[in-house]
Amino acid sequence: MPRVGALVQLSSDIVKETLARPTVFKDEAPLSLEYIPATLPHRDEQMRFLTQLFRFSLETPFSTSQRVLITGDVGTGKTVLAQRFGTDLVRAAKSRKVNLQYVHVNCREAKGSLFMIIKRVLTQFEPEFPKRGFAPEELLHTLMDMLDDKNMHLILALDEVEHLIRIEESTPIYNLTRIQEERVGKPIRLSVIFILRELEYLQKLDRSTTGTLQRNIVKLDKYSSRQLIDILKDRVQLAFKENAMQDEALQLVADIGGQSGDARYSIELLWRAGKYADGENAKRVSTDHVRKAVGSVYPMLRGEYIAALSPHEKYLLLALARVLEESQEAYATIGAVEREYKAVCEEFNDHPRHHTQVWKYAHSLSAIGVITASKSGEGVRGKTTLLGLQNIPASTMREQLETPLAASRKKRPQTR
Ligand SMILES: Nc1ncnc2c1ncn2[C@@H]1O[C@H](COP(=O)(O)OP(=O)(O)O)[C@@H](O)[C@H]1O
Ligand SMILES: [Mg+2]
Repeated sequence: MPRVGALVQLSSDIVKETLARPTVFKDEAPLSLEYIPATLPHRDEQMRFLTQLFRFSLETPFSTSQRVLITGDVGTGKTVLAQRFGTDLVRAAKSRKVNLQYVHVNCREAKGSLFMIIKRVLTQFEPEFPKRGFAPEELLHTLMDMLDDKNMHLILALDEVEHLIRIEESTPIYNLTRIQEERVGKPIRLSVIFILRELEYLQKLDRSTTGTLQRNIVKLDKYSSRQLIDILKDRVQLAFKENAMQDEALQLVADIGGQSGDARYSIELLWRAGKYADGENAKRVSTDHVRKAVGSVYPMLRGEYIAALSPHEKYLLLALARVLEESQEAYATIGAVEREYKAVCEEFNDHPRHHTQVWKYAHSLSAIGVITASKSGEGVRGKTTLLGLQNIPASTMREQLETPLAASRKKRPQTR
C-alpha cells in the first residue's frame, strides 16, 4: 500500500510542478483550427467580392439566389473566408431585420452524403427534427418548406465538396443548384457556397452544372512569406505572452510556410514551436524551437484526412508507404503499389478490389491531396502512373496507418 501512496504523491507532484513552470503561451485557443479571427489579412478583395455577390440578399431579400465557388490549395483560407463572411453578413442582415442565416457543413464530416448534410442543416434550426422516416429526395424539399415556414434565406456553405462528389457524383450538386427553378413563383430561399480544393474536380460534373458554378469563382492563391507574417503576427499577439516570440523565429516560420503557402501549416508550426520552448523552460520561442517543430509537423498528415478514407484507400496508401520505404525512392509505379496492396488486403483479411477500382482509389487520393500521381516520363518503359507521398516520410505514414487498420482488422473468414 505505501508504494501506491508514494506513486500517487509523485504524479500529483509532477502535475503541480509542471503547472508552476513558466509558459510562453497566454491563450492557445487562437492557434486552434476552429478559431475564426476578426480580420483576415490579404483577403479583403475576396471579402468585398463575396459581399457584392450577396448584397441582394439584404437589399432585395428573397428575390434571387447565388451560387459561388471558393477554390484554392490547402491552408489558403477557404474555410475561414467563408465562415468570416457568413458571420458578418448574417450580422448585417440582422441589423436590417432580414431573416438571413448561414450554415457551414463539412462534406467530409457528413460522410459525403447529401442526406446527412441536409439533416445537419435541419437539426441546426429544429434540434428535435425526426432522425428517421425521410427519403433522401424528400429531404431537400423538407428543407425548402422549413425555410418557407420561417421566411428565411439560407446561405449553405458546403466545405470540402470533393467528398460529396466523390461519393455521390454530380446528382446532389445538380439538385442543389436547380431546386429554386422547380419552385416557380415562390420566394427564393437558398444560396450555396461550394468550397473545393481543385477546380479539376468539376470535370466530374455534367456540363450545365459546371457552367453554373464557373460563373462566380473566388480563387485563393497561396500565401507568400510576407503575407504569412501579417497573418501570424495577429495570432502571436493573441496567443503568446509579450516578447515570448523572437522576431527571427516568427520570420523563420513565415519563410518555411511560404514554401507551401499554407497558413494552417504555419500556425501549427507556431504552436508546436511554443510547445518545444515550454518543454525546455525557455522564456522565448527561438529559431531552434521552430526547426524542431518543422521536424514533427507534416502538413498533409492530419488525423482527420486519414480517418475520412475508406478501408481500401487506407490499404492502398499503406501499400504505397511500404513500397516507398523499402525502395527509398521518391515515386513508385502503380503496378508495384498494386502488388503490395494485394498483400496488405490479405494481411487485413479483406478481398482486394479490381485493377480499375484500385486506379480510381489512387486518383481520388491524389485529388484530395494525400498523394501525388503523375505520368512517368523517360526511364520507365511504357507509360505508367507514378505515385508519391506529399512531404511525409513514408515510415511516418506507415505508422499512422498500421495502428488504426490493425485495430479494425476484419475477422478471418470461417473455414470449414
Ligand atoms: N487571411 C487570413 N487571415 C487570418 N488567418 C487565416 C487567413 N487565411 C487562413 N487563415 C488561417 O489559416 C488556417 C487555415 O485556413 P483554412 O481556412 O482552414 O484553409 P483552407 O480551408 O483553405 O484549407 C486557419 O487557422 C485560418 O484561420
Ligand atoms: Mg478548409
